[in-house]
Amino acid sequence: METDKDIKCKPRGFHCTLCNVHIPNMPSLDQHLKGKRHNMISSARSTRKTQGECSVYVSGIKPEISQTDIAAYFEQFGPLSDIIMDKDNGFFAIVQFSEANSVEATLSCVEHQLKGLKLRVKPREKKDFKLTPDKKTNDPQHIFDRLKPNLCQQASVDAQMQHVVQQFQLGENEKKARGLVVQLLQEVFIEFFPDSQILPFGSSVNTFGIHNCDLDLLLDIENTKVFQARAKSTTEQAGEGMSDDGHSEDSILSDIDLSSASAAEVLDLVAAILKRCVPSVYKVHVVRSARLPVVKFHHRKLNLQGDISVNNRLAVRNTCFLQLCTGTEDRLRPLMYTIRYWAKQKWLAGNPGGAGPRLNNYALTLLVIFYLQNCEPAVLPTVDQLKDMACEEEECMIEGWNCTFPSQPIAVPPSKNTQDLCSLLAGFFSFYAKFDFASSIISVREGRALPITDFLSQNKEEEVMQEEQPPKTQHHSPKLGPLNLLDPFELTHNVAGNLNQRSQRNFQRECQEADKYCHCLQYQHKSTKGKPWGLVRLFTPHGNVPHSKTHQPTISIPFNSVSLPEELRSQLHMAGDGFQLLWFQKVCSAVEEVFQTVLKCHLTRTDSVHGEDSAVVGAAEEMETSTASLNTSINSCDSTESSVSTSMAGVKRSLSSDSDPSVSPQGKKLRLGKRGRPELPPWTCVLKHIVWLGRRKVRWELNKDTETRPEGSCLQVESQVTAHIIEKEPELKEALEFKIQPQVVGGTESTKAVLKFEPTSDKTGVFQDFFHFLEAFLPKMVETLLEIQTGSA
Ligand code: UTP
Repeated sequence: METDKDIKCKPRGFHCTLCNVHIPNMPSLDQHLKGKRHNMISSARSTRKTQGECSVYVSGIKPEISQTDIAAYFEQFGPLSDIIMDKDNGFFAIVQFSEANSVEATLSCVEHQLKGLKLRVKPREKKDFKLTPDKKTNDPQHIFDRLKPNLCQQASVDAQMQHVVQQFQLGENEKKARGLVVQLLQEVFIEFFPDSQILPFGSSVNTFGIHNCDLDLLLDIENTKVFQARAKSTTEQAGEGMSDDGHSEDSILSDIDLSSASAAEVLDLVAAILKRCVPSVYKVHVVRSARLPVVKFHHRKLNLQGDISVNNRLAVRNTCFLQLCTGTEDRLRPLMYTIRYWAKQKWLAGNPGGAGPRLNNYALTLLVIFYLQNCEPAVLPTVDQLKDMACEEEECMIEGWNCTFPSQPIAVPPSKNTQDLCSLLAGFFSFYAKFDFASSIISVREGRALPITDFLSQNKEEEVMQEEQPPKTQHHSPKLGPLNLLDPFELTHNVAGNLNQRSQRNFQRECQEADKYCHCLQYQHKSTKGKPWGLVRLFTPHGNVPHSKTHQPTISIPFNSVSLPEELRSQLHMAGDGFQLLWFQKVCSAVEEVFQTVLKCHLTRTDSVHGEDSAVVGAAEEMETSTASLNTSINSCDSTESSVSTSMAGVKRSLSSDSDPSVSPQGKKLRLGKRGRPELPPWTCVLKHIVWLGRRKVRWELNKDTETRPEGSCLQVESQVTAHIIEKEPELKEALEFKIQPQVVGGTESTKAVLKFEPTSDKTGVFQDFFHFLEAFLPKMVETLLEIQTGSA
């Protein structure tokens, strides 16, 4: 079987060479081979193979020979399915037949002549199927290998940082080439959209661009709209199909009303123009799903990826803001290039294909700026301070947002901060290593972290307000998530709204690792023995060096205020100082419920203070009462008394009926951890079945069959899925045992509940897999429970 060739046995599991992924054990391998991704790639490989077997490579073509000529000639050997031609030069073509025997017929013909030209026809070269082509120059490992020795030779970390800029920044020729593309597009687009402008923004011009970075462009059609409106009214007055500017009705503007057209409709036109009228531009397609739709294209000669958007003047303006920051502060570029490269190496920033859960470079840039605003003394002013430094002519409003700042760096007084680059870099890591993301909203505008509680009750008020406002002026509140970073101008846009819990946690964990490293001698002191030092170790990707210590598996329960029921949000809002405690209790109750009721674990709480096990809840006992337990769930909460109640083996026990907020979900006193934060004794869990494998299929089966279709909430469905797996699947040879330590991290208003896992007995080696499943499942289930809780309150 072909699949077997793709799977290689490794000391710790397997490696699928087709998908380039590591698979830890046999059950996961089974799942992987049945999975969508593997099968999709596998079928792409078969299609590619068939296409290869059915096609021939034709060279010796001259530009005057068209695709139609080629088709007409080769059709004599059999039906064709495709012809791929080099659009610019027309020197070669790949002719693809519908059947493989047409290839034989073509190759058996001794001479091929077309329009007096002798064509050379060869079988297609057989190439190994690869998921992505490996271009050595763009290979991250290759780039890093070349960078390392140069960095090691530098005299100081500051010199290393300057070297990073030299290595990565856009060269003069690259900038010129980009300028020419802008000019070319401007010339083409002005023909179709009179008075329009092509404006570059983003890394090509924001002073942080690197080789091969995207070319982000705005097609500004505001003036074209005015032009069109004027032409329309003149035409109407004249009662004819021709405007006074001489543009006939059949111009592109007669197809579309720009004042009412959506961005996607305009972009369809842009795509058509790019495809037909701009030489060397390929792979043109509209991406509608993005927050701001774009047309993507590839410029073959310059090997450049470009994006064109419309209605995005804020992006051009925030690019000017970044240029101003660079102009006022020389240390910004070395710092930015270093942090961007570090983030790339650690897989923290950059989403291939545009969408994904990692930071985008703009968000990372703003994180650096925010840190510099918070240095002591500040390295950069806040955006509000910049606004006050601007003069009247520099006032700028875009889409209702105040985008005023000075146009020249000279207007901004120099910073009093004299730290060198080395210490500023270390400071960045230390700042975000400790940063309380859960309870803060980062405001570059104000240069401070705003308390998240300020935003909790906003949504409700907003709904009412927005009903009364026309859509154009509606400003929604930001989409809150694990990392909240407000755009400096569009104050309702969380530029890190795409991050998930895992990517936020990875970012902070890497900052903690880097912070630790920056305190070591190797950070600042050049090795006399030529060993890696300074930035080299910071940039080393994982896998190349083992982590200084293995991380304890940890799951954070996100404080996703948007998904919380309104009632719970206001309870938390009103709890004031008790906010942290109340949130922690809610989360702990929900976590217990997930392990006991949904995943049917045998759960005990070890009271480590007294060294005794308490509140033992057997799985069998729990299963009998699960329905009752589900109905009562984690139950109502009266925030005024800060009381929380929970179900335990079907018995609803009030935790703090005597208004004692420090009592745990299982009647245990909440204790204070090392830093005076609430903490509960750990749970011990025993799991006898692989309840995480094949859940999707069971869920689907249960839903399909109306007889067994579970009624009610998702919680009940998940509980039934587990029961079904336990019934059908054999027990693990040795049960998995692990501890869970719940804690709160962060400041006094912190909403971050953290669960630390520790496998205590894992003889079958399934813990990693189970943990991987829990990372997504547990936060989602807790969220569902919190909704039910408040819904039933
Ligand atoms: P990128 O995240 O691509 O940043 O956003 P970049 O600096 O160009 O980095 P590369 O391209 O990944 O190398 C591009 C531009 O889009 C605007 C900003 O102007 C940014 O510079 N943008 C991006 C926003 O205005 N808001 C966003 O949320 C994201």
